[in-house]
Amino acid sequence: MSAANLSDLRNAGMATEPSASEALYQRALQVMPGGCSRNVILRKPHPLYAASGRGCHVTDIEGRTWLDFANNMGSQIHGHAPASVVEAVQRQLENGTAFSMGTEAEIRYAEYMCRRMLNAERIRFCNSGTEAVMCAIKAARAFTDRPKIAKVEGAYHGLYDYAEVSQTASPKSWGALERPASVPVASGTPASALAEVVIVPFNDTARALAILDEHAATLAGIVIDLIPHRVGVIPADEGFVNALGAWAARNGALLICDEVITFRTTYSGAQQRYAVRPDLTALGKMIGGGFPVGAIAGREEVMRVFDPSVSPIRLPHSGTFSANPITMVAGLATMEQFDEKAVDELNALSDRARSQLREAIATASIAACVTGAGSMFRIHMKAVPPENYRSAYPTAAESERLNKLIGLLEDQGILLINTGTGMLSTAMGSAEIDRLSDAMLQALRRL
Ligand SMILES: Cc1ncc(COP(=O)(O)O)c(C=O)c1O
Repeated sequence: MSAANLSDLRNAGMATEPSASEALYQRALQVMPGGCSRNVILRKPHPLYAASGRGCHVTDIEGRTWLDFANNMGSQIHGHAPASVVEAVQRQLENGTAFSMGTEAEIRYAEYMCRRMLNAERIRFCNSGTEAVMCAIKAARAFTDRPKIAKVEGAYHGLYDYAEVSQTASPKSWGALERPASVPVASGTPASALAEVVIVPFNDTARALAILDEHAATLAGIVIDLIPHRVGVIPADEGFVNALGAWAARNGALLICDEVITFRTTYSGAQQRYAVRPDLTALGKMIGGGFPVGAIAGREEVMRVFDPSVSPIRLPHSGTFSANPITMVAGLATMEQFDEKAVDELNALSDRARSQLREAIATASIAACVTGAGSMFRIHMKAVPPENYRSAYPTAAESERLNKLIGLLEDQGILLINTGTGMLSTAMGSAEIDRLSDAMLQALRRL
């Protein structure tokens, strides 16, 4: 409803005063298409507007407090306003926020990440996960002098034209499993971009390798998220990942791990659980300590494409806010606090969450299931856990039931990501997990 319509109704005595959130949304609609800068905040009848956050709780402008399992799409690993980050940022703020100079903060953080990660001999920072994946793809092209990338059907890797192909494929558009179609996300995506992206099915080694073989001479790299959110928060099989890695090595292509989300699942990232080592890793979210961030890390030989002292320079890379010291100090404080013990404790808490959610589903006797790994879970309104993007794809009825379930959880002050996914933070303990599973049981009973 437009602001004009609302005021007409009010003048006619037919509408009560809009809530503060409704009023904000009406203002937002006048200045931003759809009323926002990121679609993920949209919900009916209007977005929630945050007033403040502390630990695992967020208070909205209506004064309502939420138990936050969305954590800004998984970026807030320690919840909101953790003391160590606030302190580090306040100290840096007083000394300036961005310079046309390097800072020691950047070097210190780069040293830390290279020590912590596997196969990260060099790293460069940027401003988002989208940018990190884009830079990794461009680095693979520059290194191999080849144009194409392969990616898993349905996987989300940000907004870069090539990285987003088939992210929203549907039964109408996805084509045969033997050869999934390269489906555009944005209107106007050039056909040439689609032609450079090869889509493989998730955890289906034989089909994936057969498809890759057809593009062996032109593939620069294979991009893989080891526990892809949109595919269903299902871990990639060891055999699948090893086969992709071996195929890449055999055929002169690179393996690129998108660990923008999954870095939270293991001390050195989800790749730690696999034998194969990627040539490049894209990072984001958590490693910014609550500030915008991305990073590309990998083998020295490959990362040399970014080196401007090599002539001719193969891949120029800059960014006004890349490696700004606020992000660097916030990121380092965050990651130091997310040490091996913290990772293990958060994963154990998440095991408990998944198991209690499954119990709630069994008790309510509803056709639903829980997938997930590390500190992530996802609810599907399906009796059997899905195995890939196609089996995770919700029917219209399942989507409706999931939206209803999320609404019923929201009625109890529980905030999830709109796919039914939860990302835990270290600010949570068993009391919060009990609250989640109790709320889930209540919600399932009311479905
Ligand atoms: C796996 C993965 N890659 C890349 C991105 C893009 O990151 P950003 O939103 O910071 O651009 C996301 C964001 O959700 C992601 O989940």
